[in-house]
Amino acid sequence: MSQINKDDYNLSKPITSTAGLRQGLTSYGDAHFSLFLRKVFIKALGYSEDALSRPIIGIINTHSALNPCHANVPQLIEAVKRGVQLSGGLAIDFPTISLHESFISPTSMFLRNLMSMDTEEMIKAQPLDACVMIGGCDKTVPAQLMGGISANKPVLPLVTGPMMPGSHRGTRLGACTDCRSNWAAYRAGSIDMEDIGTLNEELAPTSGTCGVMGTASTMACITAALGLMPLRGASAPAVSSTRLRIAEETGANAVSIAASKRTPQEMLTEESFLNAIIVLQAIGGSTNATVHLMAIINRHPKVQGKITLKTFDEVGRKVPLLVDLKPSGDNYMTDFHNAGGMLALLHMLKYLLHLSAMTITGQTLGEVLDASPFKTFPFSSTIIRPLSNPLYPASSLAVLYGNLAPNGAVIKASASKYRHLLSHRGPAVVFANSADLAHGIDDPGLAVTKDSVLVLQGIGPIGNPGMPEAGLIPIPRKLAAAGVQDMLRLSDGRISGTAGGTIVVNISPEAVVPKSFLGIVRDGDIIRLDLKTRTLELEVGREEIEKRNTERTIAGVWEERKTKRGYRGLYERSVNQAEDGADFDFLSCKGL
Ligand code: FES
Repeated sequence: MSQINKDDYNLSKPITSTAGLRQGLTSYGDAHFSLFLRKVFIKALGYSEDALSRPIIGIINTHSALNPCHANVPQLIEAVKRGVQLSGGLAIDFPTISLHESFISPTSMFLRNLMSMDTEEMIKAQPLDACVMIGGCDKTVPAQLMGGISANKPVLPLVTGPMMPGSHRGTRLGACTDCRSNWAAYRAGSIDMEDIGTLNEELAPTSGTCGVMGTASTMACITAALGLMPLRGASAPAVSSTRLRIAEETGANAVSIAASKRTPQEMLTEESFLNAIIVLQAIGGSTNATVHLMAIINRHPKVQGKITLKTFDEVGRKVPLLVDLKPSGDNYMTDFHNAGGMLALLHMLKYLLHLSAMTITGQTLGEVLDASPFKTFPFSSTIIRPLSNPLYPASSLAVLYGNLAPNGAVIKASASKYRHLLSHRGPAVVFANSADLAHGIDDPGLAVTKDSVLVLQGIGPIGNPGMPEAGLIPIPRKLAAAGVQDMLRLSDGRISGTAGGTIVVNISPEAVVPKSFLGIVRDGDIIRLDLKTRTLELEVGREEIEKRNTERTIAGVWEERKTKRGYRGLYERSVNQAEDGADFDFLSCKGL
């Protein structure tokens, strides 16, 4: 029998410890009994008193057979445990929900807030001194950061890492920019069914997250820029031995952060988030990151209100795009990793960064960079460019305002295929929702030219719960067949971080909100985008707008949401708009 911890049974000595098994006792009205019972049950798993006296490091297990981006989670857990146990802690894994982009209906974003609640409540409710959060696929890392910051116990994100690129007829490929471009080529008739079928087997050749600068890679780089994980943790491939060593290091870091009790709300400051936005702009990251970062920021009581959507634009004007990865450039995450990854990038950006921001190890970002000098290799300067030779001069992501988007809209200007469209006036071709789009876009009789502006309404946070990634409106087939590859497209939904084109998304307020200008656009209305002045305008007279607003009956989703049951009802009643992060109003640090 292992040695008894007499303090646990001494009824005249109150249980005051807030660490290990003694924290957060279940409410039975008798703290000693609660601890006694907890120990009864954990001993069923074979733990000794010695093991139970160690700092307890939780590991969030998001493995799921329906999540190939997380296929390596079991190996990562094993490696984290090794790191914890070598450092004197006790590692215990537990599950939360897992979300994969392609397996969740209507869209994984619909469940991001649920996952954040699951993460927050499980970290708070269980006796953990620190917690390693393993995520990877697009919505999982934002959900874990949101939940982890709200739980405010020491947390350490660990991402699963990007997949390797594949190959088709001598050309490298990777999910998911190439999924979209090849599908567009198939729609246009430039590749045949046999080709598209073969490509289908090559686009995701290993487990791991999408291998371009999509949302998952963007959030991984942002997490490293926030100082929450080792820099090479952002880009080491999912199937590499480096990924396992990062997991082991994360386990060791967890034990030391448990001792220091450093919480994310203490560690992360306004400067940490400004660094994240600088990196977002320099990598040409996903437009989704603006939504996720605003949701994360609004969970932090000391940063909330100091950074808004406008900040992304202000910061972007000073930051060039340096990383040549798809969809803005040509390469893959493995190239970024081999070129030095985040360490090389942060050295390039050093004079723009806030170097006093803290990192998970207790060093400042400046100390981390000073301790790891980086020498640029000739080959790497084509993947991670120097400030003197950027891929795009500034503002890869820009925020637009105007009567169509009084609360903001976002465009990834660097991913525009036809740059002249960044300053464009054209007549609207309007689709009321995704079903209308699917029905009408390839109609041979559709009155559309290459100068039209395609508008998709009704896919905002409330209009199509979860704000699906349907903003990449396909080029009408008759135009695609004539060689048109890009048009100005607008919506209140999102686009995948892997998508390219002249696409304005996250328009707020969304179309279903009463008096939203997006909700009253009609076919033929002239729409003007001017990137230079950050303007998005509907050129319709005030009288006509008022007339349309009076005629408009706001029924449908807007009214029905008040009586809907279950999670969907909660979602539609509580979700806020894109510029606030599409979080539930009651989850932000301001509460309702
Ligand atoms: Fe998981 Fe792209 S589908 S990261």
